[in-house]
Amino acid sequence: MTVAQALDEGARRLSQSRPRSPRLDAEVLLAHVLESNRTLLYARSNAPLGETALERYRSLLAFREQGIPVAYLIGWREFYSRRFEVTPEVLIPRPETETLVEVGLEALKKSGLTRPRVLDLGTGSGVLAVTLALEHAGAEVTAVEIEPDAAQVALRNCRLHRTEVEVKIGDLFAPVSGRFDLIVSNPPYVGLDCGPEPEPNVRQYEPFTALFGGRTGLEVIERILSRAPEFLQEGGVLALEVAPHQSEGVEAMMIERGLTRTRLVSDLSGLPRVVAGYWEETGREDLGAR
Ligand SMILES: C[S@@+](CC[C@H](N)C(=O)[O-])C[C@H]1O[C@@H](n2cnc3c(N)ncnc32)[C@H](O)[C@@H]1O
Repeated sequence: MTVAQALDEGARRLSQSRPRSPRLDAEVLLAHVLESNRTLLYARSNAPLGETALERYRSLLAFREQGIPVAYLIGWREFYSRRFEVTPEVLIPRPETETLVEVGLEALKKSGLTRPRVLDLGTGSGVLAVTLALEHAGAEVTAVEIEPDAAQVALRNCRLHRTEVEVKIGDLFAPVSGRFDLIVSNPPYVGLDCGPEPEPNVRQYEPFTALFGGRTGLEVIERILSRAPEFLQEGGVLALEVAPHQSEGVEAMMIERGLTRTRLVSDLSGLPRVVAGYWEETGREDLGAR
């Protein structure tokens, strides 16, 4: 069997059970087995596949047919043009989370600080912490994760990308001290009571702690908002990823907690995805916020 025939077989099989992107999934799985990439597959489309490679490819197709996400099958996912290790202990990084990176980087740039302190709450695979550390030279980044196994993945990604992010295990602010110039978080924000899942197989395969923020989805967000003022520097920024339908409510909660100049930022699909605000004590009386 040639590479092209194997791809056709994969796309055909997956189109029955995974109709969203069967050909792309087949390409990624075959490229993984051949330690190649999707472009090279097409350059070698007439090359024969060895028996071991074919067997391995077919077994990955079978796992994919069951619904196991491609990223868990190949062990990595690209985020902000870099490759990050992912395992079933961590959420698979989503493209919309890159919006949170953009908002964070803009805040760091505006701060003009050479060594800003940055905190990433619920770091999972570490994508936010590592990307901010790499994209803003001089940033001192701390990442917190409640699940020890997920924290290990974050640590490995820090090493993979040679960053000095400090990874701490614990519940939100519990393991950190001092104040930060930027706090980012992509918290669990799916509500246990909130209808069907947005994407297939998410609930089944991705970690519960990474997805669910209590009954309404707002529990972890509320806990972050209630303590953020204690941990933000004067002029510091808090930026949270949320579900689009939560964005306006979370902005109102931020204002209630005393953050100022709040704003909603849309992701590449045009959906309001990030809520951000400043912590400004100076002039607070003038603003009537106390
Ligand atoms: C939605 S995932 C985000 C992971 C990663 N930051 C990303 O953007 O891909 C949320 C992460 O927060 C962690 N988490 C949930 N509750 C937490 C808590 N109370 N304290 C610290 N981390 C928490 C979960 O284990 C999970 O890794």
